[in-house]
Amino acid sequence: MRIRQYEAKDEQGWVRCRVLAFLDTAYFDNVLREKEHYANPAIELVAEKDGGIVGLLDIELDRADAPVCSPGSGLGGMIWHLAVHPDEQGQGIGSALLQEAERLAREFQICRFQAWTRDDPRVNAWYIARGFEQKEAYLHVYAEGDECSHLLLGRKAGLYPVACFAHYVGEDWDRIKSMFQRVHECRMYEYQFDK
Ligand SMILES: CC(C)(COP(=O)(O)OP(=O)(O)OC[C@H]1O[C@@H](n2cnc3c(N)ncnc32)[C@H](O)[C@@H]1OP(=O)(O)O)[C@@H](O)C(=O)NCCC(=O)NCCS
Repeated sequence: MRIRQYEAKDEQGWVRCRVLAFLDTAYFDNVLREKEHYANPAIELVAEKDGGIVGLLDIELDRADAPVCSPGSGLGGMIWHLAVHPDEQGQGIGSALLQEAERLAREFQICRFQAWTRDDPRVNAWYIARGFEQKEAYLHVYAEGDECSHLLLGRKAGLYPVACFAHYVGEDWDRIKSMFQRVHECRMYEYQFDK
């Protein structure tokens, strides 16, 4: 396995690795069919094994005049995509990607990474074990069928949503969790390099 820069020819492997990695997580339906590209400078790494993509990490970097991270101490990098193929997880690939990203980020005077992730215990534990600390959180709410009426003030005749996705930024999490079957806590973590 080797960690290297992403190249355009990797796109299909990148997309497939990401979809498979997310199948068993709270992001199972967050499917991309093309790799994302970024306005700011970005660190885009893949892990290659036997000619296939088994891991990926995309981090978009703050510019002083164009921040992507929430305010904090110094310039940051936002982890937009991190995934390791399910058959290859738990073997140090994710950690190796993060380590290489930190080495490269330091060359851009980046001193912290941020990541938003949902409430998968294994993934949260992974971030925390790598020095990330939770800074904030809000809810991702999926409404199905009749649940959607909770989100609307009224229905227009003949037109009503059958599936909704909403952000809840209030504080009554228990009420929201009792109203909808699928609610994820979306947490923001931060890792300060030299803390
Ligand atoms: C989170 C993820 C990137 C970690 O990569 P990884 O290569 O499996 O992790 P590593 O081998 O470097 O680290 C192993 C550690 O992760 C834990 N771990 C997390 N997910 C694991 C899994 N599916 N299988 C085995 N170990 C896992 C291990 O317990 C181990 O813990 P410790 O070393 O802190 O004691 C990877 O599991 C993954 O792709 N998950 C699904 C996609 C996802 O949720 N991405 C993040 C979205 S923000």
